[in-house]
Amino acid sequence: MQNISFDYIEDELKMVESQFETHLATETPLIQRVAKYVISSGGKRIRPILLLVSSKICGYKGDDHIPLAAVIEFIHTATLLHDDVVDNAPLRRGKSSANTVFGNEASVLVGDYLFAKSFKVLSSLDNMDVIKAYSIAVTLMAEGEVKELVKTADIKTTEDDYLDIIIKKTAVLFACASQIGAIISLKTGEYGQNLYDYGLNIGIAFQLMDDALDYTSNEEFGKFIGNDLKEGKLTLPLIHTMERCLNSEKDIVSGIIYKKKLTNADLQAVLKLVKSYDSIDYTISKAKAAVLKAKENLNVFPDSEHKRNLTDIANYIIERKL
Ligand code: FPP
Ligand code: MG
Repeated sequence: MQNISFDYIEDELKMVESQFETHLATETPLIQRVAKYVISSGGKRIRPILLLVSSKICGYKGDDHIPLAAVIEFIHTATLLHDDVVDNAPLRRGKSSANTVFGNEASVLVGDYLFAKSFKVLSSLDNMDVIKAYSIAVTLMAEGEVKELVKTADIKTTEDDYLDIIIKKTAVLFACASQIGAIISLKTGEYGQNLYDYGLNIGIAFQLMDDALDYTSNEEFGKFIGNDLKEGKLTLPLIHTMERCLNSEKDIVSGIIYKKKLTNADLQAVLKLVKSYDSIDYTISKAKAAVLKAKENLNVFPDSEHKRNLTDIANYIIERKL
């Protein structure tokens, strides 16, 4: 599967897209320009799709899932705008990042706008359980990003530290998107918990794949290889290597990770080491295990088109190249 799309939610996804327009109509054109630049840059809409399909699997009959799906993409977009400034990222989805085109100030402030607008829309829906779910998710995301910052260039970062960071910065938003369908359908028991866990597991798999791709991808897929290393980010491929390699090899990596500017030779040296300890395969195997768990979370649901679609989304996470 190149991209996820399901015919039966096409119309609803279009309604979600038109909500973007409505909520971006302000008297300040820069907001629209920056937000649209990122929102229209080929995002896969995984989180809104998860929210729509999870509403269907819980038998939801109302209209709130449309603005809620728009909000989940707004929050995601806000975090990307901020994250690319923090990471000093030149590219996003194969295009110049918003910070490259509009500058850091505009990126941060338009991210703030999207974030604030999200909670305005949420509060207008008058559902305290929904507001709680989104608030918990975004608070954990911010905590995850701060923890990642604190752990920058810390060669003692463990696999558990890493897991805690990726659960918070990435997986909780997938969990929130998947759980909302149950919340608005008042099916918060077994369905709600399993949808949350399903989302959490695919979110973990998503970030593991992202971090594996950072060592294997190329510009064709919209990323420069070795970005995480350049930023001093220790992700699972490198953590796995560091936990196994010789002291002399550890010294080489630490020397490189503390450097301000990496040469191609530095990059190749680390890449060679990571490959020699099978650390990319290890990371991908962890992603596959998380996807398996996500599919087990769906066991509580009877067979249906929606369940099959959620299974397809889980499989897509480990097939994607970008
Ligand atoms: C991408 O990680 C970043 C995230 C998944 C989370 C970003 C969260 C924040 C900036 C904090 C919360 C902010 C708000 C407005 C609530 P990555 O850098 O590993 O992935 P990438 O390769 O996609 O950049
Ligand atoms: Mg980033």
